[in-house]
Amino acid sequence: MEVVIKGPDEYADIIAQQIQLCANRSGCEQTSIELIQRNGQLELLEQVTINSVKQSDRAAQQAVSQQLRHNIDVAQFVKQQKSWPAAKHKPLSQAIGRKTRKLIDATAGWGGDAMRFCAQGYEVICLERQPLFALVLSDAMRVLAETEWVQKNSVSVPIVECGEAMQLLGRSEFDADCIYLDPMFPSKRKSSAMANKSMELLHRLIGEDIDADSLVRHSAENYPRTVVKRPNYAPPLWRKPDEQFGGKLIRYDVYFQSRSKD
Ligand SMILES: C[S@@+](CC[C@H](N)C(=O)[O-])C[C@H]1O[C@@H](n2cnc3c(N)ncnc32)[C@H](O)[C@@H]1O
Repeated sequence: MEVVIKGPDEYADIIAQQIQLCANRSGCEQTSIELIQRNGQLELLEQVTINSVKQSDRAAQQAVSQQLRHNIDVAQFVKQQKSWPAAKHKPLSQAIGRKTRKLIDATAGWGGDAMRFCAQGYEVICLERQPLFALVLSDAMRVLAETEWVQKNSVSVPIVECGEAMQLLGRSEFDADCIYLDPMFPSKRKSSAMANKSMELLHRLIGEDIDADSLVRHSAENYPRTVVKRPNYAPPLWRKPDEQFGGKLIRYDVYFQSRSKD
C-alpha cells in the first residue's frame, strides 16, 4: 500500500493528516493524488495506472497511465437550480420530516446530498472526518457562497467542519432537528461497481465506514431524528428503524430519539 498526496505548501498540514489517516486504515490501496487549484477552486487529480490488454494479443499487457479529475461542480449545481427553494422529493423528504429546519449531514463526503438539502432551503452543517475531502468541500462552499444564486436568494450555504462525527455530535454548538447519515455502502461483491469515480476514490482511500453502526446509535440517542441512507440489499445499521421510506435501490431508515433511549 502506498499513498502519495501532494499539493501547495499552504495545505501541507492537511495533506500530512490525510496521509497519516490513510496509513492507519486498512482500506487504502496504492493511490497518487495531487491537490490543485483550477478555475479558482480546489480539486483532486488522481493518477491511475491501468493494465490494458489488446484484443488481438492477450499476452501483451500495456500499462496505461490516466488522470482522473475529482471536483465538486458548483457551477453545474447552480445552473440546475430552476426555482428557490427547490422542490422536495419523496421518499427522502418524508424521512427528513416536515418539521426539520436545521440538519447536520454528518457523513458529508463530496457534499452532493448537503448541496441538495441547501437548495431545498434547509440550514445545513457538514461534518467530514477525511481532512482532504473536508478541505475540498469547504472550498466548494466558499465558491458557492460567492454565486449570484446564493446572494439573490439569501441561501444559507452549508458550514463545513472537519472532524469525527462521534466526537462532534451532541455538543451544544451542533444542535439540529435531524441528523443525516450516508456512510459508505457495503460492497455487494468484491468487484461491485461504485456509483462514480469520485466515490471510488473515497472508497479506495478510506475503505468501508466500519464504525457506522456506533455512529447511528450515538446520533439516535442525542438528536430528535436520525435518517440513515442504505442500499436495499443491506440490513439496517442498528436496531429495527422506527420508520422506513423506500426507493427502488435505496431506502432511508429513520430513528427517533424518544424511542432510542433505554
Ligand atoms: C458515502 S460518503 C458520503 C457521500 C455524500 N452523501 C455525498 O453525497 O457526496 C461517506 C463519507 O462519510 C464520511 N464519514 C464516515 N463516517 C464518519 C464519521 N464518523 N465522522 C465524520 N465523517 C464520516 C467518510 O469519510 C466519507 O467521506
